[in-house]
Amino acid sequence: MTGHVLGIVGATGAVGQKILKVIDERVKNIKALRLFASARSAGEKIAFRGRLIEVEDLEKASFNGIDYAFFSAGTEVSEKYAKRAVEQGAIVIDNTNAFRMHPDVPLIVPEVNFHAIKKHHKLIANPNCSTIQMICAIAPIHRVNPIKRIVVSTYQSVSGTGTEAIEALKSQSAQMLNDENPTVSVYPHAIAFNLIPQIDVFLPESGLYREEEKMVNETCKILESKIAVCPTTVRVPVFYGHSETVNIELTNEMSLAEVQNLLNKAEDVVLVDDPANSGYPTPLEIQDKDEVFVGRLRRDMTLPCGYNMWVVADNLRRGAATNAVKIYCKMCKMTENCK
Ligand code: A2P
Repeated sequence: MTGHVLGIVGATGAVGQKILKVIDERVKNIKALRLFASARSAGEKIAFRGRLIEVEDLEKASFNGIDYAFFSAGTEVSEKYAKRAVEQGAIVIDNTNAFRMHPDVPLIVPEVNFHAIKKHHKLIANPNCSTIQMICAIAPIHRVNPIKRIVVSTYQSVSGTGTEAIEALKSQSAQMLNDENPTVSVYPHAIAFNLIPQIDVFLPESGLYREEEKMVNETCKILESKIAVCPTTVRVPVFYGHSETVNIELTNEMSLAEVQNLLNKAEDVVLVDDPANSGYPTPLEIQDKDEVFVGRLRRDMTLPCGYNMWVVADNLRRGAATNAVKIYCKMCKMTENCK
């Protein structure tokens, strides 16, 4: 049978399940599929193309025979097991923060910097979800008119944290609608009917939270540039889909029509921009889509070369699973095997 032996680590989780779905949609031929999770889920069966595949305990499993392994079980799990997978012969596409800034590890958004994969040592990193969608929206502009500075605020859904956070938002919402106090879990504050301006751990030296630091470092690495990035990342009570307000300062003046034209031509970017008729993307309406949606594109009247935009994408798909599967498809150059 043609195709590869693929593995998904974290197959029972929010991103792992999406990787499974995107592989099903995009990859025609697969020699075999192996699914890994913790001992808690070992032995569970997951349906894929009419078959039930048993989930294996990652700790006990071997990667011998696996061609490509998608890691989506969190940074600590990748730190512990990804190198073992590589030693046992797999090419790892890692969806965690474990190796993103390592100089030997390419950090890839396939539409933007696939050329950087040439230097890989069997370990490739998927950027952070909030970085991916911003990069997809700004790279087409940056390519012709370099961006000097970005000010970005994010509105990130709870699915980015995983299934536990999705459950926490559901149960806290139910409690509050019943006039009960919400049980605080997963986040340091209740997330239902609230906003939390903290994602990941605090970094006292910079005053940033780690998600913000990721946006700064990853943007510079992917665009091979010293762009100044000023981020604020916020968790919002939305289940799926991240949104961002992005302000960019370009090097040279450019008309609004030219910027619109660049975004209209960009691969997998959809401009939904009819503000007079309330036409702009919202996270609820772009769920389960692979594109990055841009609206509210307008000049920043306070800067000669400034623009503002609103960028929305499905964080589990475009911001994680689809990016990873697209990397795989492009790497193995199987255009006939991948959509
Ligand atoms: P499990 O379901 O057995 O806990 P999410 O991001 O949605 O919370 O999912 C996390 C994923 O990572 C799940 O598939 C989870 O498996 C897996 N996982 C978490 N910790 C480990 C671990 N120590 N070893 C292997 N898989 C893990």
